[in-house]
Amino acid sequence: MTDHADVPAPSAEESPQVITLASRIPNPAPPRVIAIANQKGGVGKTTTAINLGTALAAIGEQVLIIDLDPQGNASTGLGIDRRSRRHSTYDVLMGAATLSDAVLATAVPRLSIAPSTLDLSGLELEVSQERDRAFRLRTALAPLRIATPRASDFSYVLIDCPPSLNLLTVNALAAADAILVPLQCEFFALEGLSQLLQTVATVKSTLNPELMIHGIVLTMHDARNNLSNQVVADVRANSKQKVYDTIIPRNVRVSEAPSYGKPVLVYDLKCVGSEAYLRLATEIIQREKELIANAPRADAAIESDQIESDQQHGAA
Ligand SMILES: Nc1ncnc2c1ncn2[C@@H]1O[C@H](COP(=O)(O)OP(=O)(O)O)[C@@H](O)[C@H]1O
Ligand SMILES: [Mg+2]
Repeated sequence: MTDHADVPAPSAEESPQVITLASRIPNPAPPRVIAIANQKGGVGKTTTAINLGTALAAIGEQVLIIDLDPQGNASTGLGIDRRSRRHSTYDVLMGAATLSDAVLATAVPRLSIAPSTLDLSGLELEVSQERDRAFRLRTALAPLRIATPRASDFSYVLIDCPPSLNLLTVNALAAADAILVPLQCEFFALEGLSQLLQTVATVKSTLNPELMIHGIVLTMHDARNNLSNQVVADVRANSKQKVYDTIIPRNVRVSEAPSYGKPVLVYDLKCVGSEAYLRLATEIIQREKELIANAPRADAAIESDQIESDQQHGAA
């Protein structure tokens, strides 16, 4: 059985100074699997995977990040050096290793990662003729979805997707309960969103009827910049999708942290970037409760928003 309990916990002196803000609520449930996706590069997917993951762990959740980008930035940003990636998500999707073989503890308590390597960029070609090619990740995650989880099992799985609507992203969407979309506060923020929503709708109708849209998180906001503020207003006005109240500010501490192999919450817990990711984690947990309670309504929202979004962006 896949079990991350075998993974050695970091020793006390390695443990970073992340304050544990709350302990996990009892009655463990199977993990919620959230794909962090947007086919645009540089919008904050990896930063959100690392720091939302850390924030969820800090408030008591057991979190697994799955690095599904061949660039491996989530793995590097969490301080996992290339030599220790003995089994990677490539091996897992190729069926050469189980997910538990690939899972590594990070220096953050309750946060683990299945790292990636550049091999992953070849996966699409290698499995293109296989009938189960879109379900490789879903199959690998199946052992986590056991009926009677223990408190030590993962409660959240965050999938860091590559900047493309390729087979890797399709695997993520086919395996996920929900998709979280980071949108950068820049001029063309909404460009490409309708194509992404179209992909979500296709995956939902063909591969994964349970897929929900968790919401949109605005990233790299600069309050002094009128354009940034205009983008926030536009996205809020034009998107029927849930847009999180929490906006992630552009913050130099957030961009410095990965070069130290640390989440920003470890690098500088008090900076505005860390505070924002903690607020986002709290909002996500609240949103989870709403999504689970209103599952059929959330599904209907995908269809109607799709139409609206297509009209706005002239998509076919
Ligand atoms: N809130 C932020 N403030 C400052 N820099 C950020 C912020 N979020 C992301 N960045 C930087 O922007 C770049 C792209 O972010 P990243 O998370 O790697 O995007 P993606 O995974 O979507 O390609 C990285 O250099 C990252 O450090
Ligand atoms: Mg990335």
